[in-house]
Amino acid sequence: MSVPVIETDKTNLELMSGKTKLHILNDVTFQVNSGEVTAVVGPSGSGKTSLLMVLGGLERASSGKVVVAGQDISTANEDQLAIFRRKNLGILFQNFHLIPSMTALENVALALEIAETGASYREIREQATASLSEVGLGDRLTHLPSALSGGEQQRVGLARAMVTNPRLLLADEPTGNLDQDTGIMVIELMFNLARKKGAAILLITHDRSLAAKADRKFTMNHGHLTTALEAVPA
Ligand SMILES: Nc1ncnc2c1ncn2[C@@H]1O[C@H](COP(=O)(O)OP(=O)(O)OP(=O)(O)O)[C@@H](O)[C@H]1O
Ligand SMILES: [Mg+2]
Repeated sequence: MSVPVIETDKTNLELMSGKTKLHILNDVTFQVNSGEVTAVVGPSGSGKTSLLMVLGGLERASSGKVVVAGQDISTANEDQLAIFRRKNLGILFQNFHLIPSMTALENVALALEIAETGASYREIREQATASLSEVGLGDRLTHLPSALSGGEQQRVGLARAMVTNPRLLLADEPTGNLDQDTGIMVIELMFNLARKKGAAILLITHDRSLAAKADRKFTMNHGHLTTALEAVPA
C-alpha cells in the first residue's frame, strides 16, 4: 500500500540578501508517495536544492505545510529534526561526500552508527557489507574512496544512503560528476533499490533523459513547482 512520504501545501521559503527579501520557494504544493520516484528539473537558481533542504529539515520553511514521513517538520525543534533525519532520510550528493580516510565499508557502517539502531558492531559490519553487495561492490569493501572510480564512489554513497532503510531518498544531481553511461547505471541501481525497499525518491537532475525514467516529473521555475508533462517527454 502506498502512503504519502512528502506532503507540502503552499510552502514558501524567503531569505534575506542584505536588505532585499528573496522569494526562493513560492507556494510549493505537491505530494510524493512511498515507492514512487519523482524527478525535479529546472534552471540553475530556480530553487531545486532549496526545496531539498526544506524537505530534509536542513532549512526551515517561512510558511506553509511540510510533512515528511508523517512528521510535521515545519514545527519540529533541532533535536527532533536530527532524529527525524537519522530515522527517515537518505541523502545522495553530487560530490559523493565520502570520508576520504575511511574504507567503503567504514563509510557505510558510519551511517548505521549515527542512526543508533542498537545493532552490535558485528551486525553493523554485516549490514554494511550487505548494502555494498546490493550495489555490486561486495569485492571493494576495504577500498578507500581514492581507489574507487567516480561511479563506484557514488554507489558507496548509495549504499550509505540506503543502509538505514530510509522512507525517503533525496538525491541532488547525483550523476552530475559522472559520465552519461555511468550516470544511467547509478540511477537505475538507485531506482531498483528504492522500489525494492518501498522508499520514495526525490531526484533533482539537469538530465531530462534521466528525469524521463521517473514515475512523476516536476519543473521548478523561479521557486514555482509545476507538473512537467509538457516539458519532459515521457
Ligand atoms: N543562504 C542563501 N541566502 C540567500 N539566497 C540564497 C541562499 N541559498 C540559496 N539562495 C538563492 O536561492 C535561489 C535558489 O537556489 P538553489 O540552490 O535552490 O538553486 P538550484 O535550482 O538548486 O540551482 P542549481 O541548478 O544551480 O543547483 C538562488 O537564486 C540562490 O542564489
Ligand atoms: Mg542545486
